[in-house]
Amino acid sequence: MTHTSTVHLSGNELSAFALTLITSRQNILPKRLAAPGPSEDQVRDMFCAAAAAPDHGEIRPWRFVLVPENKRTLLADVFAQALIERDASATSEQVEQAREKAFRAPFLALAIARLGPCEPEIDPLERMVSLGAAIQNFLLCAHSMAFGSSLTSGQAMRSPAIRRLFQLADGEQAVCCINVGTVIKRKPARLHPAVSTFVSRL
Ligand SMILES: Cc1cc2nc3c(=O)[nH]c(=O)nc-3n(C[C@H](O)[C@H](O)[C@H](O)COP(=O)(O)O)c2cc1C
Repeated sequence: MTHTSTVHLSGNELSAFALTLITSRQNILPKRLAAPGPSEDQVRDMFCAAAAAPDHGEIRPWRFVLVPENKRTLLADVFAQALIERDASATSEQVEQAREKAFRAPFLALAIARLGPCEPEIDPLERMVSLGAAIQNFLLCAHSMAFGSSLTSGQAMRSPAIRRLFQLADGEQAVCCINVGTVIKRKPARLHPAVSTFVSRL
């Protein structure tokens, strides 16, 4: 890790800090994310956070591919191809809109689930939980550095074009793009579901 200062918090302060950090994260659409994006060191820290995700069997059932700004055209081509593959009648304006999504956030990475054979064999559902946790750790780390972030997915994730560009192996699946940048404009935070709506007692 590259943090230069150490903050000493009491147990209560630490838990209050963690809860505030976690509950104040929000999805900031890529069109609301501008430069500057995170530095290389900051990105490394975000991936260190991702690497701390729970991982049954320690198989690391996920990987990430950075898409630097000089490679965004290739991703834009994938988004355009994916749209045309599923809707041959898409207008040129729609294709342009699809392409544009590749250029918005200063930082963009593709999250990939590794769902093929592995040793020990771990259920794909559990592997997806691990990927979700890795992504969440990444997002929270970005949020702690005052960056905005979002996840974007859609049908393009299942397209042959994305498999070709990212050289996905059998069993690998593109899940979503992670976008990070400086927040231009924030929406009001959403209301989170009340605990009583999703927790019960046996
Ligand atoms: C795997 C995954 C993919 C997502 N893809 C999209 C997307 O394509 N477009 C979008 O607007 N939000 C996407 N989201 C973000 C959710 O819409 C967002 O998390 C949700 O609205 C809750 O808002 P919050 O994150 O601000 O709490 C995705 C979230 C996940 C977990």
